[in-house]
Amino acid sequence: MELFDRIQETAEFIKSRIAVSPKVTIIFGSGISALGEISNRTEIPYSEIPHFPVSTVKGHAGKLITGTLNGVDVAIMAGRFHYYEGYSTKEITFPIYVFKAMGVETLIVTNAAGAVNPNFRQGDIMLIVDHINLLPENPLRGPNDERLGPRFPSMHEPYSRDLIELAENIASTMGIPLQRGVYVAIQGPPLETPAEYRMARILGGDADGMSTVPEVIVARYLGMKVLGFSIITNVADPYNPQPTTHEEVIEVAGRTSEKLGKLISAILPHLA
Ligand code: HPA
Repeated sequence: MELFDRIQETAEFIKSRIAVSPKVTIIFGSGISALGEISNRTEIPYSEIPHFPVSTVKGHAGKLITGTLNGVDVAIMAGRFHYYEGYSTKEITFPIYVFKAMGVETLIVTNAAGAVNPNFRQGDIMLIVDHINLLPENPLRGPNDERLGPRFPSMHEPYSRDLIELAENIASTMGIPLQRGVYVAIQGPPLETPAEYRMARILGGDADGMSTVPEVIVARYLGMKVLGFSIITNVADPYNPQPTTHEEVIEVAGRTSEKLGKLISAILPHLA
């Protein structure tokens, strides 16, 4: 079955099962779960959704949650797919096509990331202003379906400047400090060597992670606006290397995610 037809089939399936008409999709990263009260709530495990891959990582619940949050209809991916799990970037990004087909115009991505900017601290929230893609596979590689998007999509504004400004304004009225930075996507699953952290910094990165970039590429290809946040779960010091564990990542993301959830919830009504 062609990608285009799979997208329509999945979009119809989800629409038939939910009570709202989502305009915004939020993707939860590792350990991130808190958000406000959701009304009109429906949960669909990924395993029940036709053509969806199934998430395997600890800390990723693997379900689609839809409902109304702070007055806005949303579709939340609780659990995302990663290249290191063995999926192709095409499989990882399939849900993004489906959300677009359902009428979603804005994608909010979150993730856990390790800082390579020495000014960042564990537990900081970084507004993603740009990214560097070090994943070995681009989700748009292969024949292009012009019904979906252009062959050579522009990446001059991967993260919406308007939404960055909006997020900064709202965060400042809420007293939530934000860092700004460039996210570097690495393949994983091993974390970086000290030399690799140094490389990410030299290349212009502020934080490293193993996700997000494929989804953002496809969202931009489809003409969606993107807003991205990284929770800084560890700060790499290549000159005094310390171990980072997945447990630490999940713990720090978990305790920071409430603050991030409040911020995202406050931003939602402003996404026209
Ligand atoms: N590197 C890559 N991915 C990560 C890190 C890191 O240091 N921390 C959380 N996700």
